[in-house]
Amino acid sequence: MSSVNGTSGLNGHTTYSPENKYKLPSFCIDEARPMKVVIIGAGYSGIVAGIRFLQRVKNLELTIYEANAGIGGTWFVNRYPGLACDIPSHCYQLTFAENPDWSSFYAPGPEIQAYLESVVEKFHLGPYIKLQHRLTRTQYDEKTGKWHLTIKRATASTDSSNPQIRQGTTQDGYEDIEVTADVLFTGIGSLSRWQWPEIEGLETFQGKVIHSAQWETGEGDSGAKTKWEDTVKSWGEKKIGVIGVGSSAIQIVPALQPRVKTISNFVRGKTWVSASFVREHLVTLANGDESVDNYTFTDKDKKKFRDKEYYREFRRGLESDLNGAHLATLRGNPLQQGAREIFEKIMRQKLSKKPWIAEHLIPDFSVACRRLTPGPGYLESLCEENVEFVPENIKRITPTGIETVDDKHRDLDVIVCATGFDTSYKLPFTFIGRNGIELNKQFEPHPRTYLGIAVDGFPNWFSALGPNTGVGAGSLLIIIERQVDYAVAATLKLQRERLKSIEVKKEAVDDFDAYLESFFPTSVFGEKCRSWYKVGKEEGRVVSLWPGSCLHCIKALEHPRWEDYDYEPLDPDNNRFFWLGNGNTLADKIPGSDRSWYLSPEEVDIPGLY
Ligand SMILES: Cc1cc2nc3c(=O)[nH]c(=O)nc-3n(C[C@H](O)[C@H](O)[C@H](O)COP(=O)(O)OP(=O)(O)OC[C@H]3O[C@@H](n4cnc5c(N)ncnc54)[C@H](O)[C@@H]3O)c2cc1C
Ligand SMILES: NC(=O)c1ccc[n+]([C@@H]2O[C@H](COP(=O)([O-])OP(=O)(O)OC[C@H]3O[C@@H](n4cnc5c(N)ncnc54)[C@H](OP(=O)(O)O)[C@@H]3O)[C@@H](O)[C@H]2O)c1
Repeated sequence: MSSVNGTSGLNGHTTYSPENKYKLPSFCIDEARPMKVVIIGAGYSGIVAGIRFLQRVKNLELTIYEANAGIGGTWFVNRYPGLACDIPSHCYQLTFAENPDWSSFYAPGPEIQAYLESVVEKFHLGPYIKLQHRLTRTQYDEKTGKWHLTIKRATASTDSSNPQIRQGTTQDGYEDIEVTADVLFTGIGSLSRWQWPEIEGLETFQGKVIHSAQWETGEGDSGAKTKWEDTVKSWGEKKIGVIGVGSSAIQIVPALQPRVKTISNFVRGKTWVSASFVREHLVTLANGDESVDNYTFTDKDKKKFRDKEYYREFRRGLESDLNGAHLATLRGNPLQQGAREIFEKIMRQKLSKKPWIAEHLIPDFSVACRRLTPGPGYLESLCEENVEFVPENIKRITPTGIETVDDKHRDLDVIVCATGFDTSYKLPFTFIGRNGIELNKQFEPHPRTYLGIAVDGFPNWFSALGPNTGVGAGSLLIIIERQVDYAVAATLKLQRERLKSIEVKKEAVDDFDAYLESFFPTSVFGEKCRSWYKVGKEEGRVVSLWPGSCLHCIKALEHPRWEDYDYEPLDPDNNRFFWLGNGNTLADKIPGSDRSWYLSPEEVDIPGLY
């Protein structure tokens, strides 16, 4: 009998070489070491992450820090008139929490917020979420392999009716706390950092200026439960300017139109507005009515949705067609030409009362180069008497209104800036990785990541909806779910294999970057059109989208290539088999344990008969 290090001794027992440095540890192989996971953000991403980490990681200490005074992220913050889903509601829900009660094909924002609150409640996530806790600084400690975080939290005396306090934009009523994490997961959103437009004189306007993502009109209490209708009750005689023709403006204009004296919609660019690629489903639901642009589900529909099989078929059909839209986003694909023809026809029909607007609005660039918004009622509202479509660039904002480059001035009472977000992925807090490198510096001239979820020099950090992980056609939620699965798998690997750190290799990041450069010229997203996909520029790198279809993204994340990562062991004095522990499992050690667990039905994989 012999072993790698040993020779057979006189009494038949192996004697081992004194050089063997392996120290047998005392733990069992499946004794989960404690893991401290911190999640930043409680929107869809943070909520899914919280649920999955709790479900899959044993011996877990979990905290979710959320800057806002409520959960929901996008759906908590955005309360503007007309806010609604821009993909079918049935595709904008989690795979594991289906809602049979969506009110309409494109559900209103407050309903999505209520859905998220119900998910948090159903999965008992509330106790793990700390509201009004904003991450302001984080640094990786190379010695311990832990992230050190500074969190600005509201003190007990915080007055949450104060908008500045609600948004965490003041120091008053806050204090700093320091926490650490073995794994940091950020779900801070790609459309959560709203910004004012750079327009001369904006600060001189003496009426009200509101950003779409900060709907504070001073009426109602503007809290999460306030209906937007109550925030504009006194606007009946007011002249409103709405800047922009992105998804937000397209929803705001038709919602406000019947409630105000006039609307001037300042539109400097062009855009496609049409029901999405899954229009046929909408038309079918509306009994073949081709003019339909949203559909309210009847009690009869909702009753049918209680039949699980029926519901599954309905949802799968929708989502399958939604994913099918990807082909239309490839340059030269006949579906693109088909979409262009249909969309143009629909837009011209809806603008038939003011056909000149179509000439200004219908783009030369491909359908989906900018994010598509179904925009129920937008084109129709542009044709109303009290709405003026202003296709001129803005020269400046004056104390009383907006002056355009043709020297025309429009007097206004309220200016709504539906002008979008900072989508540069530069973070408004300090994020320091290995060797003191700052993330914002490393992201110059553009963000460079590994599959959008990991960054070299930033070990033990994973993120959802980071750079290059959005999709122009398909649901973001399945991507978020798979990103979370990936981060949980990496955390389990750290735990199981007793590793101090997991860090993606720089060469893997470089290779992904090269892939991006080759992919985007093949898609319409790389075309010339101003879009937040390209940080609000007409040309340049696509930094927000995944290089491929939604299905391609979820396949890519399905089986992590662990060889693209470097690892450090927790115990550097031991060899790679430290994680094998003492040769026992917990079941071996604990009296009365189930020692035939591998025969339980969920463990036995019965092959089909072929
Ligand atoms: C108006 C609007 C409508 C949209 N409609 C759709 C749609 O119809 N369909 C669709 O697919 N997508 C839509 N999107 C995209 C939407 O953002 C995503 O679908 C999804 O909601 C993103 O979830 P998230 O959790 O990743 O990010 P978010 O919802 O943005 O949540 C991020 C959270 O992180 C928190 N946070 C950020 N920084 C910190 C910090 N430093 N410390 C603590 N907390 C922090 C924020 O407060 C926020 O609550 C829309 C976006 C907007 C802006
Ligand atoms: N569920 C939904 O329907 C929904 C609703 C809102 C938002 N969203 C998501 O959020 C994304 C962002 O939407 P968004 O509408 O808030 O932002 P956006 O798409 O970035 O649109 C911003 C608009 O403001 C205009 N703008 C910006 N600065 C300007 C300036 N200085 N002068 C004049 N115009 C200016 C832009 O002009 P140009 O046209 O020239 O670029 C654009 O029309 C969407 O694409 C979508 O993904 C979804």
